[in-house]
Amino acid sequence: MPPTATNGLHLPGQLSPAITVKDSKETSFRLDRRLHGDYPIVVSGKGNHLLSKDGRTIFDASTGAAVSCLGHGDERVINAIRDQLSTGISYLASTFWGSDVVETLCKELISGTDGKMARVYLTGSGSEAMEAAAKLARQYFYENDKKTLRKNFIAREGSYHGNTLGALSISGHVARRSPYLPFLMGNVHHVSSCNAYRQRKQGESDEAFVAKKAAELEAKFQELGPETVIAFVAEPVVGAALGCVPYVPGYLKAMRDICHNHGALLILDEIMCGMGRTGTLHAWQGEDVVPDIEAIGKGLAAGYQPIAAVLMSEKVVRALSDGSGQFVHGQTFQGMPIQACAALEVQRIVREEKLLENVKAQGAYMEERLKSLLGNHPNVGDIRGKGLFWGIEFVRDKNTKEPFDPKRGMAQKVLDRAISPPNDMCVYPGTGTVDGVCGDHIILAPSYIVTKDDIDHITEVVSDVIHEVFDSVPG
Ligand SMILES: Cc1ncc(COP(=O)(O)O)c(C=O)c1O
Repeated sequence: MPPTATNGLHLPGQLSPAITVKDSKETSFRLDRRLHGDYPIVVSGKGNHLLSKDGRTIFDASTGAAVSCLGHGDERVINAIRDQLSTGISYLASTFWGSDVVETLCKELISGTDGKMARVYLTGSGSEAMEAAAKLARQYFYENDKKTLRKNFIAREGSYHGNTLGALSISGHVARRSPYLPFLMGNVHHVSSCNAYRQRKQGESDEAFVAKKAAELEAKFQELGPETVIAFVAEPVVGAALGCVPYVPGYLKAMRDICHNHGALLILDEIMCGMGRTGTLHAWQGEDVVPDIEAIGKGLAAGYQPIAAVLMSEKVVRALSDGSGQFVHGQTFQGMPIQACAALEVQRIVREEKLLENVKAQGAYMEERLKSLLGNHPNVGDIRGKGLFWGIEFVRDKNTKEPFDPKRGMAQKVLDRAISPPNDMCVYPGTGTVDGVCGDHIILAPSYIVTKDDIDHITEVVSDVIHEVFDSVPG
């Protein structure tokens, strides 16, 4: 029977039946997250700009999802990748071979923690890094005691740690979890996020707020039995799920102390907020609260290669090296020289060109401009973030903080308007900001090479777009 659009048969060597993406002019053979999306086609990039096939120059104010931290088309990184490829090494299995560039990257990463972390485990994506972090944490206890009772993780609502089943189980992102709930691990338990805008009572001090969070985590340990808990997992600055919600001063330390009092580990997910995004190489360096295990990704190689990593402290490494001497985990595409060389060059550029100073300076200017242009807007509930990582949360009512009906898709409307001519700017929209279902925000996460003029441009366009979108909708 010949294949038709309806019988779904597909003969070898033949293109499958045409699948027409609604509203798009051409047939697409690509299945992406949104089947009915119609994305601008990008043909090239330079610095903060992407050039689209229809001839527009689009300012990349989100760098994807906080990835392209050096902007696009960086010659140093491109040359490093070209040189690495010209060695003739296409692939090296990390189980068989060593590589100087991989070693040098790991040394660079440990040095970036001032030696407070001990080893690096390389992976190909953030989700894989979180899977590895969870397994490493379990193995830390298993090495000492094959009958260990430690099986539980405590993570947070309003968090995102990745889309593989383990990482999704740890996540608190309601929409991304919902279809897969029956698959998700039953040994993950959630406490509330640390969201000052939504949770702090009027006049409540940092200390009082943090004490409440500490009491909640302590109660969760007691409920589960402290001897059953492997680790507490948190993003120091929550990215996609909440829109750049930073930890309240004192929070990380309080959480770490509870974990350590109970012999459990602290795992920080810095896949989005790490590698300089908040103005320090690691967000935890803001308060010098060293995690036992940390996941990094996204900005690590600035998108020039897919690479992420798990950093671990000396005590975690020692448990493995004094025990079985192996990490019972691994994948085909990890620790490849081509991935490592891109990450190494990116990290060298960030260090040698002192880009974190620029992140701090332009981040402070961005905060000032956003607050001055949008702070009084009736539908802007909160502007929060750190470094070059800023979230704007939208509300229907500024006094009650009531969100918009999710059916109205306000965050998407902001992106749609921003990315259209004449604005030509990409921002990162998010929903479920309040309770996983309701709530809208956008994230601004420009590259570390932005100038003051760029920040003026970003904040003016974003402010105009927000005024246009919200001034034209009935309350
Ligand atoms: C905090 C955090 N953790 C984990 C992940 C998963 O990373 P990846 O998409 O590279 O698998 C993400 C991605 O958005 C993230 O923001």
